[in-house]
Amino acid sequence: MTTNRSWILRKRPEGDLATGDLELVTSEMPALADGHARVRTIYLSLDPTNRIWMSDADGYMPPVGIDEAMRGSGIGVVEESKSEAVPVGTIVNTGLSTWSEYNDLPGEQLNALPSIPGLSLTAFTGPLGMTGMTAYFGLMDIGQPKAGETLLVSAAAGAVGSMVGQIGKIHGCRVIGIAGSDEKCRWLTEEAGFDGAINYRSGDLGAALDLHCPDGIDINFENVGGEIMDEVISRLNDFSRMPLCGLISSYNATEPVPGPYNFANLLMRRTLLKGFIILDYLDRMPEGMQAMAGWLMEGKLKFETDIVQGLEHAPASLERLFTGKNLGKLVVQVSEEPG
Ligand SMILES: NC(=O)c1ccc[n+]([C@@H]2O[C@H](COP(=O)([O-])OP(=O)(O)OC[C@H]3O[C@@H](n4cnc5c(N)ncnc54)[C@H](OP(=O)(O)O)[C@@H]3O)[C@@H](O)[C@H]2O)c1
Repeated sequence: MTTNRSWILRKRPEGDLATGDLELVTSEMPALADGHARVRTIYLSLDPTNRIWMSDADGYMPPVGIDEAMRGSGIGVVEESKSEAVPVGTIVNTGLSTWSEYNDLPGEQLNALPSIPGLSLTAFTGPLGMTGMTAYFGLMDIGQPKAGETLLVSAAAGAVGSMVGQIGKIHGCRVIGIAGSDEKCRWLTEEAGFDGAINYRSGDLGAALDLHCPDGIDINFENVGGEIMDEVISRLNDFSRMPLCGLISSYNATEPVPGPYNFANLLMRRTLLKGFIILDYLDRMPEGMQAMAGWLMEGKLKFETDIVQGLEHAPASLERLFTGKNLGKLVVQVSEEPG
């Protein structure tokens, strides 16, 4: 018998996630079904979309049901297998699973991860995980970066944003990031190679954008929404592109959120604005993985992982994304990596 611990959604959060919205429950697992593998979670990915999944607002997936295990994804190791696809000991990306120590999952859902010398396993949660793929396809497909253009990235020091800016640099863009602290801005310019970074919490954002983007903005990779998006939309160039990746500033909202006051500028500037969800790109993952792995091996991509220890801290740690405490990809380490 395997004893499992899982976070169960007991109540839909109102505003910020609160104590009692989720409950950590211990249970005995039933016998493993044929065709399935029992995966011990090593790293649980925490993502802004977790908060969307807890809500019953009309999203891109059904919400997690009340009294169901919280949906998530992560990296784990197969400890028991009744699937020929994944022998015991295989390190896998779980695809959609739950916030649990163990998940029983169909073998064909699991992607075995290669061991790449010099690369930590956490790379598969960041640049080679869903956030890296989001950055790659959002920027390359919708942003269409060209050398000499100005690329503006919001939530720039986060998992997606930090990759977007560096992919933009690889394609010859002038890259400006917006982030919530001086420390993050320093990391962006001194480590990640951004041309400039703006701390939106200090000073006049509009004036800083004018200073850093004197020729306007050709690509706005939108991660945040709200007032930051308003300031950026006002500075878009003719025929600019705007991959609409996320609107994290509104995920905890309890009232309807007003649209951008200067929406008309998207018409005047003939901006291509396109929302996208990374799940739409699943059949193109090999292309994204190959490109990102190549740049990683060439030393062209830097990444950070913000690691919290212990499944019991998962709900409280999700808040790091909404308060901006994370630098790079936020994960919970649930158990040790195999020797
Ligand atoms: N479309 C897709 O398929 C897809 C896939 C993955 C992620 N996303 C979206 O991409 C965005 C980034 O996700 P991520 O996983 O990479 O998270 P992340 O950027 O690592 O973390 C979120 C960051 O957002 C910033 N933030 C939070 N609340 C804010 C607010 N009110 N105003 C301004 N900034 C705020 C914080 O940074 P600061 O310190 O800079 O404030 C925080 O670190 C999210 O909107 C997410 O929903 C979309």
